[in-house]
Amino acid sequence: MKNTFFLILVTLFILTSCQENKRIQSANENSKTYLEESHSYAQPNDAVITHLDLDINVDFDTQVISGTATYDIENNGSEQIILDSKFLEIESVTQNGEQTEFELGEFDESLGQPLTIAIKEDTKQIAVTYSTTAKTEALQWLTAQQTADKTNPFLFTQGQAILTRTWIPIQDSPQIRITYDATVKVPSQLMAVMSAENPKEKNGNGVYHFKMKQPIPAYLIALAIGDIEYKAISERTGVYAEKSMLHKVHEEFSDMEKMVVAAENLYGDYDWDQFDVIVLPPSFPFGGMENPRLTFATPTVIAGDKSLTSLVAHELAHSWSGNLVTNATWNDFWLNEGFTVYFEIRIMEALYGKDRANMLALIGRQDLEDELEALKESPNDTKLKLDLKGRNPDDGMNSIAYDKGYLFLRTLEEKVGRDNMDAFLKSYFKKNAFSTTNTEDFITYLNENLLDKNNITFNTEEWIYQPSVPENAAVITSDAFSNVEKTLEEFLKTNKIDVTKTENWTPQEWVHFVRNFPEDITVTQMQTLDDTFNLTDSTNSYITMVWYEQSILNNYHDNNVDTKIAEFLNTVGRRWYVTTLFNAFAKAERIEEAKEIYKTARGNYHSVTANTVDEMLRI
Ligand code: BES
Ligand code: ZN
Repeated sequence: MKNTFFLILVTLFILTSCQENKRIQSANENSKTYLEESHSYAQPNDAVITHLDLDINVDFDTQVISGTATYDIENNGSEQIILDSKFLEIESVTQNGEQTEFELGEFDESLGQPLTIAIKEDTKQIAVTYSTTAKTEALQWLTAQQTADKTNPFLFTQGQAILTRTWIPIQDSPQIRITYDATVKVPSQLMAVMSAENPKEKNGNGVYHFKMKQPIPAYLIALAIGDIEYKAISERTGVYAEKSMLHKVHEEFSDMEKMVVAAENLYGDYDWDQFDVIVLPPSFPFGGMENPRLTFATPTVIAGDKSLTSLVAHELAHSWSGNLVTNATWNDFWLNEGFTVYFEIRIMEALYGKDRANMLALIGRQDLEDELEALKESPNDTKLKLDLKGRNPDDGMNSIAYDKGYLFLRTLEEKVGRDNMDAFLKSYFKKNAFSTTNTEDFITYLNENLLDKNNITFNTEEWIYQPSVPENAAVITSDAFSNVEKTLEEFLKTNKIDVTKTENWTPQEWVHFVRNFPEDITVTQMQTLDDTFNLTDSTNSYITMVWYEQSILNNYHDNNVDTKIAEFLNTVGRRWYVTTLFNAFAKAERIEEAKEIYKTARGNYHSVTANTVDEMLRI
């Protein structure tokens, strides 16, 4: 009896101490250490936000968003919490429901101002009442005239890289993840959607509630408001667009469910429940933006033949590389984009085969060569790991992260074999899910889980820390592109083109053809090509963009191409397209013409595009 009692006591003691150990362990797991970072004023090791409850009113007449951002916070014994804020008017701040002191610090051109808020040891919640101003950089307010249907205004946000702070006061660092809820009041004829659980119909009163239950960094908070409708593709995929575009968009993206399945087969479950795409008005500054659950996309990819849908594969791929496993700082941006291009091309290969995948890879290879040439005076910017301290992160967002990042992973794949590569990537996504990683941690993980394990040596450090492209870069080939090159050569020699050879060309082949005109191509040759293939009037935005570029560079003026170029630049705000064309004007020493176009076009651009072009044209 005595013994039994003693045994019970001992067991109880062991059980409670185990319990205690477990608790200590999980506390340690939770208290994450954040790295130093130069693009946010936040000090998350002192006090960090964990959840946002946003309550805002969107006023299209005054073009102001105003309301209250309430945060749950974790305080590590600090007397203050610092948020990022840029061009915001801060009205009042509370902690645990009581008014508290706050201060807006010195203004920095790219970072904005630190918003320092006094808190107490036991502060669990803070709330900031604020409004946006005319200077906000994330928001683009569009008139009805700037939309497809031309009857209602439109608004969208662009958060990446550090613009969310211009519409919400927030800790705007990719290392800090939060869940969010939002209540958004909009004019009743419009619908609001966010990077969250979304409505599928207008509700008539203009008050929309949102929930984002997976933790995301601030740059992925997004909002779009317009006269839009939803059309499902599958149970978990679908499209939003203005009425006049909805059918076309639905057709164009009808392979979306297949893409999600292919992606899941490669690197594991899609963790965000829903995958929708909203097609925005043409001023959207990017091809696409991977806002979780709701990718934002440019209408320039609606070509009518699904030829530009690799963009959807790209943004979908970010659901793993970027949104699930996020670059810790903007110096590690290649971890987001390089992995995503690799994944995008793998999805495209799974759906449409190796030929299409290799054409995409080769287009990227040429982009990379062009970028290396453009950056030859600043070799440090051709490294994968960047040092953007004191610079705007936008400076690092060029083709290096994308195409050198891709080439690194493709070269690695060829070295280790596809099966090893895929098993490694799958485990990498799983291990870092809903977390961040930096270049150094990636290298350690790569060595431990792929290279050392298989006794493989690889020049990872050279790829990542040295400029330009290492000698061992994978050689990518495409028979289709070789034929295109032959056809071009023949034409240049004979001034005649055999149309039976070009009959079945895909838009990628046309792009490759046009991009590779030699510098001394003549106006007569351009004329022959235009008269034979109607390039000036192509309905594919990628083909027209590269054709316009050549027209500008080579002083080609027929078939009304100058008017077409001006029209294009006055409606399309996609930064890559716009800067390519303005760059061509500069190269051709036709800067006055460019400035003339820009006078009217600038007003149609989002700040992201306008700021870049301002710099290019030194306005
Ligand atoms: N995340 C990027 C867009 C971005 C990058 C916004 C940096 C702000 C700062 C997006 O996924 C992207 O890469 N878009 C490309 C599409 C593409 C490579 C298919 C674009 O916009 O052209
Ligand atoms: Zn991307």
